[in-house]
Amino acid sequence: MSKILVTSALPYANGDIHIGHLVEYIQSDIFVRYLKISGENAVYMCASDTHGTPIEINARKQGISPEEMVARFNERHFQDFTGFQIHFDRFYTTHSEETRVHAENIFNKLNKNGLIEIKEVEQYYCDHDKRFLPDRFVKGTCPKCGAEDQYGDNCEKCGATYDTVDVKHPRCSLCGNPPALKNSTHYFVLLEKARDIIEKWVNDKTHLHSEVQAWLTSNFLSGELRPWDISRDSPYFGFKIPGEEDKFFYVWMDAPVGYIGTTQKYCDENGLDFNDYWSKESDTKIFHIIGKDITYFHTLFWPAMLAYGEYKMPHRVHIHGFLTVNGEKMSKSRGTSVKASTYLEFLDPQYLRFYYASKLGPTMDDIDLNLEEFRLRVNAELVNKIANLASRSMGIINKKLNSVTGTTDPECSSIVEDAKSRVESISRYYGNFEFSKAIREICIIAENANRYLQDTEPFRYTSSDPEKARRIITSALGLLKGITILIGPVLPEFKKTVEKMLGAPHSWTFRDLDFILPPDIKLGNFERLIERVDEKNIEAMIAKTKEAAPSVQIPLTPLKDEIAFDDFQKIDLRAGKIIDAQLVKGAGKLLQLTVDIGIEKRNVFAGIKAHFSPEELIGKTVVVCVNLKPRKMKFGISEAMVLACEDPSGHLGLLVPQSGDKGFYPGSQIS
Ligand code: 2FM
Ligand code: ZN
Repeated sequence: MSKILVTSALPYANGDIHIGHLVEYIQSDIFVRYLKISGENAVYMCASDTHGTPIEINARKQGISPEEMVARFNERHFQDFTGFQIHFDRFYTTHSEETRVHAENIFNKLNKNGLIEIKEVEQYYCDHDKRFLPDRFVKGTCPKCGAEDQYGDNCEKCGATYDTVDVKHPRCSLCGNPPALKNSTHYFVLLEKARDIIEKWVNDKTHLHSEVQAWLTSNFLSGELRPWDISRDSPYFGFKIPGEEDKFFYVWMDAPVGYIGTTQKYCDENGLDFNDYWSKESDTKIFHIIGKDITYFHTLFWPAMLAYGEYKMPHRVHIHGFLTVNGEKMSKSRGTSVKASTYLEFLDPQYLRFYYASKLGPTMDDIDLNLEEFRLRVNAELVNKIANLASRSMGIINKKLNSVTGTTDPECSSIVEDAKSRVESISRYYGNFEFSKAIREICIIAENANRYLQDTEPFRYTSSDPEKARRIITSALGLLKGITILIGPVLPEFKKTVEKMLGAPHSWTFRDLDFILPPDIKLGNFERLIERVDEKNIEAMIAKTKEAAPSVQIPLTPLKDEIAFDDFQKIDLRAGKIIDAQLVKGAGKLLQLTVDIGIEKRNVFAGIKAHFSPEELIGKTVVVCVNLKPRKMKFGISEAMVLACEDPSGHLGLLVPQSGDKGFYPGSQIS
């Protein structure tokens, strides 16, 4: 039997998994479980994506090594995935010897075939941070619409994309200083030379959905395939380019190689032959499941890398859309960018698995998590139709019929036949990523089973004709068995519990889809399968996510040069009490203050009129610099400076010294 290898996009070891990411991992897990349950020899590989500038910078900010940071996230992600019942055959890391070896192999073979070119490029360099700045680390004014504070590669206001060198007033997003252009040699993959291979792969309709093929053709393949820059200068966290000291592979050069490196690790650990999966002669079918934002890496660059590296090319790249919540982009401030771990504190992971499955189709369309619909649908379908079938039947047989099955009720046979007739299409829907259709069919079977129980009223016969009641319940439980197998890829824990209750001799597969329980089986006791979704838990989850949202980020001004302690000592800061405040005629921004600094009173002109009325200032004790050289202004002499600071919305606040309940006397020294 040929093998199937499934991968999901490797999560960056740089931030938490949220419910948006879970669309992909849940979808892939359902797909793999379906393959396994239907008897395929399938494995599911995933790993942490560990390299790149953001990881290197974030680790440094936290005072830990990048290795330490990616190890922490690897563990955290693994826990999140396990919490959502997502099972990988191996969850590894791209920062591994296996991935390094395969990445170098691909690079060397591209080089040998003349696909690597070394060129000088001019890039922004921050002299303060001593590093070249990737596009995302340059901020400035959009050259198209003039919006300020935009990233170096695209504008969030007008949607334009541009070259970083075209950004107006560029500055380094790390320190705020303007960067300068500097030359460096970079390595490029000459993709145009791989055009035939790429086009052949893209145009094979087994590989991609037709909408993706059309998109790639009109956006990329119709013009020249631009050389792809695969190198980055130090400092960087990644693999060194062979023969170089200070140059590294760009993260996207080794990230997908992580699929191969992880399989290598899995094979080495389990005594399997790696070539069975990845050698170009292997007949393994490789499925990559990814989000639409990383399409071109997987459909243009990756096939070329695999072909020249002499690896097996993907059988299919399945591309899904993004998640919206209540019809909008996920947002921390609205509390909808929910972390996986936060979700798990409040809600059952089975709800989300079921809900996503009930929404997912084969296209790149976005899916919406409408929280009201989520609650209603899970309660109406998963709880009322599927789980209740178990609780109602098990309740009766446990309590009244010694938990022993009987023969089946001939009147149920038409329902069983109907259920059986749906199996083939449900299987096809799973295999084609049409999960919403599979769920719809399964719910119809569950509806029929519930109606059967309702119509036959087995509870009425438990004393008068217990064998009749037993037949009805046995038939209903046979339907439950079939439904459980069919929903098994979506609800693995549910399946395990039902198997235990119904005394399954082995873990059921699609081969067991007869919708019948044999007679004389001693059943286990009923175990609760799933609770109703409680609105309060959804609200609490949103509230917790909101609480954790960071306050608005304001662009920070660059840090000033270091000063000696003695220089700082020269500044005389005092508590001063504002005893008078007046508007200044003809001055747009100024207020005139009289400040009592104990020894004397000072006249101060402060540019704070837009933020305070004179009345609210009188009586306040503030922080004043008293040894600043008096400044002659148009309206008089300013003899001190009142200290202020900006809040996140750009409003000024005055610095007010605080001490318990005693306050400060004017002139009190601040040190
Ligand atoms: O976009 C991302 O989140 C990447 N970390 C996905 C990498 S997928 C693969 F190529 F490694
Ligand atoms: Zn900088």
